Amino acid sequence: MKYINNIIKNLRKKIKLYEYFYHVLNISLVSDYKYDKLLESLLILEKNFSNYSDNYSPTKIIGENFSNMFKLKNHILPMLSLESFYKIDYFNNFCSFVKKKTNIDNVKFCCELKIDGVALNLLYKDGILLHSLTRGNGYEGEDITNNINLISNLPKKLLGHNIPKILEVRGEVFILKTDFNNLNKMLLKKFLKSFSNTRNIVSGALRRKHSESKLNIKLLFVAYGIGFIYPNNLFTSHYKMLKKLKNFGFYINKYNLICNKKITVFNFFKKVLLIKDKINFDIDGIVIKVDSIKLQKKIGYTNKFPKWAIAIKFDTENLETRILNVRFKIGRTGILTPVAKLHPINFSGVVIKNVSLHNVDNIIKLGIKIGSYVLVKRSGNVIPKIVKVISKHKKKKYKKIFFPKYCPCCKKDLVLSKNNKIYICINKRHCISQIKKNILHFFSKNGLNVRGIGPTIISKLVDKKIISNPLDVFKLNENVLYNIKNISKKCIKKITYELNISKNVNFYNFIYALGIPEIGISASKNIANNFNSVEEIISANYDDFRNIKNIGKKISKNIFCFFNSSNNVKYVKKLSKILRIVF
Ligand code: IVH
Repeated sequence: MKYINNIIKNLRKKIKLYEYFYHVLNISLVSDYKYDKLLESLLILEKNFSNYSDNYSPTKIIGENFSNMFKLKNHILPMLSLESFYKIDYFNNFCSFVKKKTNIDNVKFCCELKIDGVALNLLYKDGILLHSLTRGNGYEGEDITNNINLISNLPKKLLGHNIPKILEVRGEVFILKTDFNNLNKMLLKKFLKSFSNTRNIVSGALRRKHSESKLNIKLLFVAYGIGFIYPNNLFTSHYKMLKKLKNFGFYINKYNLICNKKITVFNFFKKVLLIKDKINFDIDGIVIKVDSIKLQKKIGYTNKFPKWAIAIKFDTENLETRILNVRFKIGRTGILTPVAKLHPINFSGVVIKNVSLHNVDNIIKLGIKIGSYVLVKRSGNVIPKIVKVISKHKKKKYKKIFFPKYCPCCKKDLVLSKNNKIYICINKRHCISQIKKNILHFFSKNGLNVRGIGPTIISKLVDKKIISNPLDVFKLNENVLYNIKNISKKCIKKITYELNISKNVNFYNFIYALGIPEIGISASKNIANNFNSVEEIISANYDDFRNIKNIGKKISKNIFCFFNSSNNVKYVKKLSKILRIVF
């Protein structure tokens, strides 16, 4: 049991750390999806082990994080968050819950976009803006009234008639994607650090200590609700209240939709999914709210969110798409890799058009075919992968994937590996694809680290038969390079300069550069630490490698086989004469 308590405590600590970075330092350590999943796990554990409950758990309170830069002020009514889900199907559960609480079958819902910005609470007295507070911990927020001028569409004096004596207007501050892109382009031109997402700019701008700044940032405000209102008998419907806010001079989202039927809500979500990338501001989901103010009051609140509203967030890590075709690529070590061409999908700004299918086994295990609808996962910066085939599209046409018998590059017969899992092109010395990739690997960051020797130039030089291995690259001179199309003088100077300095190379970078299968940078470091010269490593036997800590059978076998080939030994000896290897 103590073990469970420790898990719960660690989860709370982790979530609070993420909240601190997000709210105070304006840095997202994990995606929203991952954060919400952690919170969900914590909630489940706390429900099942209620003796470990804690009133200060992040499941019970909104992250209490302040930067100490601004005065704190109380919201008149708490400014709550939204309970979030990642599947629209959850709306069915929400409907049952609402039915149970209200005894009404067909409650009206107001659907809205969930705008990804920073929440703000504006207090108006007799129609005049008194102050504006960030959400903070939901009870008190930072007073950022001095920076309010940055928001260009905000009424400082309410327009129209029937203006309440006191009114808290809640909404989201955001910036247009086009403005975000232009700003980042300008920063890049000036070699300044660009912003990673729109929310970061907004949060940073609102928390400026001095409102003057060289950056021309145009913030916008969209109103999505109210807090305290006096007199409080003005509205019966949330949707109508938003319309009234529009008359007061606020920008209201044009996609807000009143839904009399459940199906309209599902369709709203579907439509938003289709158009979300075309909308000129970031949204991270939709919000579904019970429209009747009377019913909202009846359904009530928890300490953290209203029970009459939910957010259905977009799952930014798992996206559905279709396999349009499958091509085959030969990798550096001759392994044939099937690569699926996808209907492009957008993971928070990163467009993915291709994904590796790895090997025969993986294709069979997942049941992948050309035309299959698939779920692609990309968490953080990890390479995207297909996690499953979606079987709901039964009537569509699918084609089986056939593996080629010949190398798609050099046309030589492919060989099936011992475990029948992978096809290999063993024409290492003459297969252009392998030649190019090996040279690229040799001069890559963990190898000799020559930045000018990239895929385009290698491809041109190999195609023109000027180079066929890394040794040839050291023979290049400026005259040869001048004859290659589209390489600037500046580039040529850079290449020859960097090539020259790359000759001073650490032994471990040299081992890595050789491109021996399975030998990455950490294995290279490990191996290098155990040898003092090239001759020593050439004459080492299998056990010499196997006895090194953390070097397993496979790596030992690969490196031993590599140095067992007289061609490789000749090649390594030639290289070691040109290079100045540091042991
Ligand atoms: S309603 C009491 N509506 O999402 C109701 N919130 O994750 C609470 N948000 O703190 C908010 N668009 O900053 C609501 N149309 C919308 C929204 C919205 C964005 C933000 C808001 C809230 C956060 C919760």
